[in-house]
Amino acid sequence: MNTQIDNLLHEYRKFPPSEKFSREAEVSADLYDEAKADRLEFWARQARELLHWDTPFTRTLDWTNPPFAKWFDDGKLNVAYNCLDRHVEAGNGSRVAFHWEGEQGDTRTVTYAELTEEVKRAANVLAGLGIGQGDRVAIYLPMIPEAVISMLAVARLGAAHSVIFGGFSADSIRSRVDDASAKLVITADGGWRKGKVSALKPAVDAALEARGDLGPQETVTNVLVVKRGENEVDWTENRDLWWHDEMAKASAEHDAEAFEAENPLFILYTSGTTGKPKGILHTSGGYLTQCAFTHKAVFDLKPESDVFWCTADVGWITGHSYVVYGPLANGTTQVLYEGTPDTPHPGRWWEIIEKYKVTTFYTAPTAIRSFMKLGRKIPKKFDLSSIRLLGSVGEPINPEAWMWYRKVIGAKAAPIVDTWWQTETGAIMISALPAVTETKPGSAQVPIPGIAIDVVDEAGVPVGADSGGLLVVTEPWPAMLRGIWGDPERYKETYWEKFGDKYFAGDGARLDHEGDIWLLGRVDDVMNVSGHRLSTAEIESALVAHPFTAEAAVVGASDETTGQAVVAFVIIKESMLEESAAVEDIAAVLRSHVGEQIGPIARPRDVFVVNELPKTRSGKIMRRLLRDVAEGREVGDTTTLADTTVMQIITGQVTAK
Ligand code: WTA
Repeated sequence: MNTQIDNLLHEYRKFPPSEKFSREAEVSADLYDEAKADRLEFWARQARELLHWDTPFTRTLDWTNPPFAKWFDDGKLNVAYNCLDRHVEAGNGSRVAFHWEGEQGDTRTVTYAELTEEVKRAANVLAGLGIGQGDRVAIYLPMIPEAVISMLAVARLGAAHSVIFGGFSADSIRSRVDDASAKLVITADGGWRKGKVSALKPAVDAALEARGDLGPQETVTNVLVVKRGENEVDWTENRDLWWHDEMAKASAEHDAEAFEAENPLFILYTSGTTGKPKGILHTSGGYLTQCAFTHKAVFDLKPESDVFWCTADVGWITGHSYVVYGPLANGTTQVLYEGTPDTPHPGRWWEIIEKYKVTTFYTAPTAIRSFMKLGRKIPKKFDLSSIRLLGSVGEPINPEAWMWYRKVIGAKAAPIVDTWWQTETGAIMISALPAVTETKPGSAQVPIPGIAIDVVDEAGVPVGADSGGLLVVTEPWPAMLRGIWGDPERYKETYWEKFGDKYFAGDGARLDHEGDIWLLGRVDDVMNVSGHRLSTAEIESALVAHPFTAEAAVVGASDETTGQAVVAFVIIKESMLEESAAVEDIAAVLRSHVGEQIGPIARPRDVFVVNELPKTRSGKIMRRLLRDVAEGREVGDTTTLADTTVMQIITGQVTAK
């Protein structure tokens, strides 16, 4: 990582927006001045202009009980109404909301009028199953329109959704359903992935059966099942219901009730530094305001003519904010794609861009790097001339990938916005404004208008230009998390204890000589694999849950395609040495065990069986040294180890493989 940082900081190419782009743009540099003059009034104006309020708010921010913020808290609105009905009422019902493309090539075009009607029906179905304000609904679906419909139906009723990424295991579903006490699970028989149906319902069945004598009483009363994969599924009478049966019976009339701006909208689980994922809580008015504002300003949105495609799955925050809430609040036409980028051929994404004339494309560096590896010939076969703006999110984008993205996908003309934010921040925080900023490959650059960010040292003192430190947010922001579900103490400890009055993001950053921000990756034990957050502790605890494992240490090693890769070092229990020796490939066994416990994305790239782990005298594992081994580097300073010979042994064992 360090050599990469040095390279990054010698990157001083700049790309100003074209005169035409700036001239035709929706937003200008005035926004910075306006926000600087009165930050709260700036956000209040965005909230009033971008959203419909049934009861207008009079208070913008209540920060009397930090770090628990309330935004627009005496106002009332309905989030789904804002994303749907009002566009239909404004005469835009026939505008396409989604060009949906199934992996097999089947398609559906869903207009705003149709989406509104479907969501109304679904809201009636959910209400009939007893869902209302104050309830939680778990959603475990593929990328099909029903995923969006479900989220909005839950929001329409004032309940909160917890979307669980379709790649997660039964265990992960169980712990999320329990943590949120969900009443209902919405799933599908299966979805298409890599040319075959990948079943989903069996994982939900297994999760709900896996109660044993664990925990409180089952909170889930029903499972609503969308038919998509047409695969055979088991059925639990009185609990399981087919989505299409219930939708056919439901009325298409539903009046949206207004709820307080601070009504919970969703919980989304993300990895932290301990083994247990955190349920990040977001609420309604502030979240929707910042999603709508950033979607409009950062992507220079022209709702009448743009076709926006954010490739993220709705199981992640990027899908929540830039597939569902931001774009729909702004009445955007989007592409929604079910499958993988290389199915049935490696040009599938570019084919979709050509087919729907996508203007604005938002994806992750890991995807860009894997396309780079395949070569420019593949995208060159397609007409990508509709593209006018490109976005990147999820991890630092290395300048080489940035330049490739610009040249090959953006025809050397489309500006690139590198957007930094987190599940916790809810919406984009740092990004160029494409019509204003001269972009620099590799730097996310500047806080968006209305957001206050700094880089500080361990003591919380700003480092100033040309120095590195920790990224902090210095003022509350509308889409900020309102806490960790059920654990206010952990919220305070994780984000606020370090600096007291500043939000600690967990990322290292540097300011260059012009004050632009360069993100340098996590400073805690969180890895970033293909733009997905994984915690070392979570994978270690999955590994030690296997009967073979005595101890495990996990590190994120840099990887050309995925950014970081999971590398595990395990010690086998004495009592299991014989049994494990009989297994042909222990690494493969442990890899698939992690896959079952957490999900395939968490499977280690490498598992090394070792006799010892490097520990300090106080017993702390020195992951830094393991990372050196995993990345094939000379092992660094070992003087604080309890046993300084241990690294020689480990290096020997690893290179012998
Ligand atoms: C990293 C994804 C550099 C960062 C929206 C952050 C980035 C974590 C960028 C959040 C970027 C995200 N440049 N790093 N443009 N965007 N990150 O919660 O380490 O899945 O803390 O949210 O991803 O990941 P999360």
